[in-house]
Amino acid sequence: MSAEPVISFKQVSKTFPRTDGKGTFTAVDKLSFEIAKGEIVAVLGKTGCGKSTMFNIVAGLIEPSEGTARVVGHNPFSDFDFFRGKIGIVFQNDRLMPWRTALENVVLGLQILNADPKQALDTARSWLARLGLSGHENDYPHALSGGMRQRVSIARAFAVNPDILLCDEPFSALDEMTARDLRSEFVKLVRQNDKTGIFITHQINEALEIGDRVMVFHRPAQIAYEARLTASTNDAERDNVRDQIMKVLSESPSSD
Ligand SMILES: Nc1ncnc2c1ncn2[C@@H]1O[C@H](COP(=O)(O)OP(=O)(O)OP(=O)(O)O)[C@@H](O)[C@H]1O
Ligand SMILES: [Mg+2]
Repeated sequence: MSAEPVISFKQVSKTFPRTDGKGTFTAVDKLSFEIAKGEIVAVLGKTGCGKSTMFNIVAGLIEPSEGTARVVGHNPFSDFDFFRGKIGIVFQNDRLMPWRTALENVVLGLQILNADPKQALDTARSWLARLGLSGHENDYPHALSGGMRQRVSIARAFAVNPDILLCDEPFSALDEMTARDLRSEFVKLVRQNDKTGIFITHQINEALEIGDRVMVFHRPAQIAYEARLTASTNDAERDNVRDQIMKVLSESPSSD
């Protein structure tokens, strides 16, 4: 395994102008962490603590105010083109294109990568099938349920076979049974394909199931607690991690 981390933050801060025009608001405060190849890090933290802001920096959607963010050695904000096809993103809301069918939404990323058109369609179809959406290929997003739309967006993220997966509460809009099925499917997919990723969630059990490591943020985004989980982590150790997470979350200040 290369020693070079896939994702690294060094003293990253992000400030936003206050809406009342009086100075700035700090959403991320000198945040540092490294994520190694093949590692999935689950991120927990109270609402408004800066998880999505961190996520958007990794995804190259916003630029840090200070510090250095690197993804495979590149600046995700300025080297946006370099990451085409390398990063799959699942947002909390599905963000599908309403004028494209399920299949057309999934195939889009492959078309952007100039994949062979027939192969692209086959790949997109097989991902939809894997997520239980055979027969819905030609449905438009408005005709699909929220859970189905979310599954289309997961298919879209996986279809390009990206090395890096970024997921911001991907299952939070789903009922618990559907979320449970998708969660175990997700774990299988990332393990089989040796993905590196960040998985934001509000559910402690979900974080423990999905993460090789769990980070809990307090506000503004900084690591308040961190734990590593492996196949040999036993139930008692897991319970201890769960207790620690709950303690840190309960002590963490709420947003205003
Ligand atoms: N573009 C922006 N302009 C101004 N303030 C912002 C902007 N984006 C985020 N913020 C503020 O930064 C803080 C962190 O927001 P962020 O969305 O990162 O939180 P979060 O941890 O993802 O919360 P949640 O769990 O509710 O999704 C919030 O107080 C939010 O209002
Ligand atoms: Mg968020």
